[in-house]
Amino acid sequence: GFVVALARSGRRIVVPPGTSILEVLRAAGLRVQAACEQGVCGTCETQVLEGTPDHRDMILSDDEKAGGRSMMICCSGSRSEVLVLDL
Ligand code: FES
Repeated sequence: GFVVALARSGRRIVVPPGTSILEVLRAAGLRVQAACEQGVCGTCETQVLEGTPDHRDMILSDDEKAGGRSMMICCSGSRSEVLVLDL
């Protein structure tokens, strides 16, 4: 697992293994945009301020994935212990 830190509210939320960021944010009461929830539509794209996403979507190019500035929170995880999102 890892922690998502929400830059706008300062909240920190644990994402357990096997759970998506989207799921934990919804469970925490946040309204987040999503549609396919399989990494193919791009609706859930979220800006990454700090940390290294573990990209598992089909949307971002290899360059975008390497850049690490945004991610699909429905399916992608984190390679770092903390991921700071622009939420
Ligand atoms: Fe479609 Fe995340 S909801 S890519």
